[in-house]
Amino acid sequence: MDLKKLAARHGTPLLIIDHAVIKCQYRKLRDHLPRVGLYFAIKANPEPQIIKTLAAMNAGYDVASLQEYRSVIHSVPASEKKDLKTFIYDRIILANTIKPIDTLKKLSNHRLLVTFDNSEELKKIKKYCPDAGLICRIKVANVGSVVELSSKFGVEPGDATRLIESAFSSGLTVEGLSFHVGSQCLNIDNYINALEASASIFEELKSHGHELKLLNIGGGFPVPYDKNAPSFKKLARKLNGEIDRLFPKKIEVVAEPGRFLVAEAGTLVVSIVGKSVRDGKMVYYIDDGVYGTLSGVVFDHIPYHFKSFKKGPAAISAVVGPTCDAFDTISTAESLPELEIGDLLYAENIGAYSNASATNFNGFPKAKILHINT
Ligand SMILES: Cc1ncc(COP(=O)(O)O)c(C=O)c1O
Repeated sequence: MDLKKLAARHGTPLLIIDHAVIKCQYRKLRDHLPRVGLYFAIKANPEPQIIKTLAAMNAGYDVASLQEYRSVIHSVPASEKKDLKTFIYDRIILANTIKPIDTLKKLSNHRLLVTFDNSEELKKIKKYCPDAGLICRIKVANVGSVVELSSKFGVEPGDATRLIESAFSSGLTVEGLSFHVGSQCLNIDNYINALEASASIFEELKSHGHELKLLNIGGGFPVPYDKNAPSFKKLARKLNGEIDRLFPKKIEVVAEPGRFLVAEAGTLVVSIVGKSVRDGKMVYYIDDGVYGTLSGVVFDHIPYHFKSFKKGPAAISAVVGPTCDAFDTISTAESLPELEIGDLLYAENIGAYSNASATNFNGFPKAKILHINT
């Protein structure tokens, strides 16, 4: 990929999404986790072209909102959803445990899988979307994951059986359990402990006469941003062993990977639009920032690093965004050669939780997105 040529042709900031990488990551998951059905969490990168690429590979989708649900329905080619009802039930999970009443009302005619983790949500589902297939999300340890989710989601495992039984007794259908070990999970034990907690709940419910059919192991699969990420092959080996040990073959197992599918597909090219020495350190102002594609620095806690095309003695420099806000600081310690206004920088592995949360703050346009190898 000639980044300089692409930047010259398309301008900067330019986010290049390489679909060959997305396809390769999808195959990697499928090949190393053969028992696990895959639902792409589109929140990681909701570009319609990505939804389309994954549709051709038979992926399902994890959606967080009515808008994401509609985006999947619109972006998946007609050939993949000839029988729309089956497509919706088999290939979409509304995996947000809290759903506005209006969303439930609008989805009441579309039978689909939805998650829940509390009794108030069950009342809403019973009233407005009673035909949904339910998945109970349990709270599991997120220790050592970069993005923590357990403080906001999941019923305590000790309370799950009672909650699920109350759903059954109100006439709802609970299909299974889900958990999320935290995004960019660097601690394989989170998965192991969550699988064990889930298996206990399956057993307890079975002894009470309720057989769950589905286990959803969520996302969290780590990306090698740096050397801290455990090897995916090692994680997959452990997961396969524990899933087969704890769950009979008739239990369907699915996952909702987001970051793993798209992070390494993204490369951002930016231009330096200003430079100034402050407190003895060079500060480079670039044409994208934490209000744009680099929003993941704030929301996703990922410290992106920049590379330069120029060679020369490096000095520790700061890289900041273009807005009139000092918070718009991407890094205070990048090792860069002396650069001039108009020079390019690039950041790799920036396809997840980047453009997804970009804004137009201060009127700056979002980066152009270029899809290649679609
Ligand atoms: C419910 C749910 N599923 C899946 C994901 C995707 O997780 P990841 O990008 O770590 O794979 C998230 C991310 O926040 C989530 O909240």
